[in-house]
Amino acid sequence: MRVPIIAGNWKMNKTVAESVEFVKKIREQLPPANQLETALAGPTLSLVSMREAADGSPLKIAAENCYYKNEGAYTGETSPYALYQAGIHHVILGHSERRKYFHETDEIINKKIKAALTDHLCPIVCCDDTMGRRTAGKKVHWVVNQILSDAKGLSSDEIRHVTIAYEPSWAIGTGQSADPDEAEEGCYLIRQTIAYMYGKEVAGDVRVLYGGSVTTSNINALMASRDIDGVLVGGASLDPETFLRLVNH
Ligand code: G3H
Repeated sequence: MRVPIIAGNWKMNKTVAESVEFVKKIREQLPPANQLETALAGPTLSLVSMREAADGSPLKIAAENCYYKNEGAYTGETSPYALYQAGIHHVILGHSERRKYFHETDEIINKKIKAALTDHLCPIVCCDDTMGRRTAGKKVHWVVNQILSDAKGLSSDEIRHVTIAYEPSWAIGTGQSADPDEAEEGCYLIRQTIAYMYGKEVAGDVRVLYGGSVTTSNINALMASRDIDGVLVGGASLDPETFLRLVNH
């Protein structure tokens, strides 16, 4: 039984004070975590304060990135071990903005996923799709290869703790969401790839999300799709009332 998840990704937005104010506004209005999981990914600087503000509520706090080493001479990086010790639950890895602007490769993302899992963080791994709309064969090749590389070497127990988000690049921040059929097609493809790697039973346990211009207007149709277990929301997660409307869709 896959518990659906609504996750916000604030990206590089909000000060510490704004982050805390947001969490305090929504924390009493969230459903129990066994019905619907809610998570918010904020800037690294805000994470500890967000976690403190969320204490005792179902809200889980997520990092937007981490490194693949726990400690050492890696100026500016964030340790997955330190995140877990600070009470952070999830970490987004391989977001298309990390791949595009910070040149993260599948090899790096694979190392980060393994490090995050070792340190008990639950990775939300983004699978982008730069192939554009209706590119059929090319899209299949692109998405399948990304999953094969990003999940390489993970055990079936480990992959069960990974959530995968299908995020077509052309839909991110553009207001042009994939329609429910396109989103379902991408998520189905991801689940089929996991089934190829780990078998049907494991694939049935892995949560697959859709991300890209999710709003209060399209969330119901997206969440109704068979292989979509939730959404990863950027822009529409920045406002507390809108985020609550998404959660209570
Ligand atoms: O991580 C979230 C995605 O990049 C989607 O962002 O909802 O602003 O399109 P968006």
